[in-house]
Amino acid sequence: MPEQCPMRALMRLLSTRAGLDDPHPIYAALREAAPMHELPHFGPGLTRYADVRAVLFDRDLRVSSQAAKPGSARADIAAKLPPDLQALPPPLFLQDDPAHKRLRRLIASAFSQRAVDALAGRMEAIAHMLLDALEDREAFDAIEHFAVPFPALIIAHILGVRAGRLGQFRIWSEAVIAELHPLASPVEREGAISAHRALAHFFRGELAERRHSPCEDLISELARAEGRSELSEEEAVSLCVNLLVAGHFTTTDLIGSLIYLLLKHPEQRRLLARQPALWPQAVDEALRIEPPTPLLARVFPKAAQLCGRAFEQGDNLNLFVAAANRDPRVFPDPDCFDVTRNDIDHVSFGGGAHYCLGAPLARAEAEIAVRVFFERLPRLSLIERGLAWRRSPNFRGLSRLELKQGPPERVEWPDGATPDQTNQWRSMPCLLE
Ligand code: HEM
Repeated sequence: MPEQCPMRALMRLLSTRAGLDDPHPIYAALREAAPMHELPHFGPGLTRYADVRAVLFDRDLRVSSQAAKPGSARADIAAKLPPDLQALPPPLFLQDDPAHKRLRRLIASAFSQRAVDALAGRMEAIAHMLLDALEDREAFDAIEHFAVPFPALIIAHILGVRAGRLGQFRIWSEAVIAELHPLASPVEREGAISAHRALAHFFRGELAERRHSPCEDLISELARAEGRSELSEEEAVSLCVNLLVAGHFTTTDLIGSLIYLLLKHPEQRRLLARQPALWPQAVDEALRIEPPTPLLARVFPKAAQLCGRAFEQGDNLNLFVAAANRDPRVFPDPDCFDVTRNDIDHVSFGGGAHYCLGAPLARAEAEIAVRVFFERLPRLSLIERGLAWRRSPNFRGLSRLELKQGPPERVEWPDGATPDQTNQWRSMPCLLE
């Protein structure tokens, strides 16, 4: 149909540099044009909130590559792996029941709200430790020096991995996510495979060590469960790799986006300084505006009809989370970043059976990290051309956010105040924000 051509062009734009820098006008055009579009290389995708949410909560749909049609994007992810990695069970978000339910139950308590609350003091201390090193620097990259190491140190602590390995883990984790990118180059694919192997090898060694000398960490917990025959060694290895990667870069992306949004909207930052109770809303608003995983997918277990299109058994269906989160049918003034927005029921953590297991952890990490960041460094501004977005339509986050520390911010005084009066007020810190 001729009217589909501009839409196909828009879809292609999503993978270009301009589209990756700012995909939101493209998503908006797609969402308002139709509820479903064909995405080159990915297949059909839903753009509207109500449809995306309904699919996430539909328990009949599947996620695994075994359920997907041979040749489809999802089946390809597994088929392109070498035999040794195909032998490893897939990550939890690509597993269907009954294995999914069994494995999720085994690790759920390590990521419960109670477990996360117990980590709050450590998170605060880690944020301060990282900022001690940045406080006196005139300029720095907030991604490299803060948003990357912060969640890495937390997930390493939960798993029980020594902090000395973290630099290597970052490289491996970034490489592994190329496995999920259907447009990854052969070199990126090779890099993903080597990194996946290296991570699996590393965790096999850690699990072997914990079988002999267990301690109070998640790797020991998995080694104990293995001893009780509740999971296989390969399942334990795969869970460790999955948690390390999932716990790493998505939260980095959230922290980076929240810092960026608050720098872009100083009035929202001042509001948070006056009303710290709004911090949880600020985190969810950043998740809504810039979802770190903007594209999810499901597989049809049998033939079905959706939005006037016929699907066959094993067909893939994409969900444009980033488009759904800015659907004006649900979110008034959807492009506006507003930390006072209530009931932000975004779909950035998915929904239903595969709802993100790390959601309480990610929320707490972002809230503590970014709050402490601005408390300690209140005079930051963006360096011109110091910003770069990751080159992937599957994962949205800043790869570079260069900031400089500046002179004290101009304080906004109540109407009618004279410069003399303002100088007097400067000596009364309680009146300053
Ligand atoms: C801002 C940070 C994060 C975002 C945006 C995010 C997003 C998501 C989404 C959208 C899903 C569902 C995928 C689907 O339905 O296909 C998911 C699943 C998952 N996430 Fe997260 N995640 C984040 C942080 C974390 C952290 C910190 C962890 C823990 C280490 C984690 C562990 C998991 C696991 C294990 C699953 C699979 C759950 C299942 O299939 O039952 N995530 N995540």
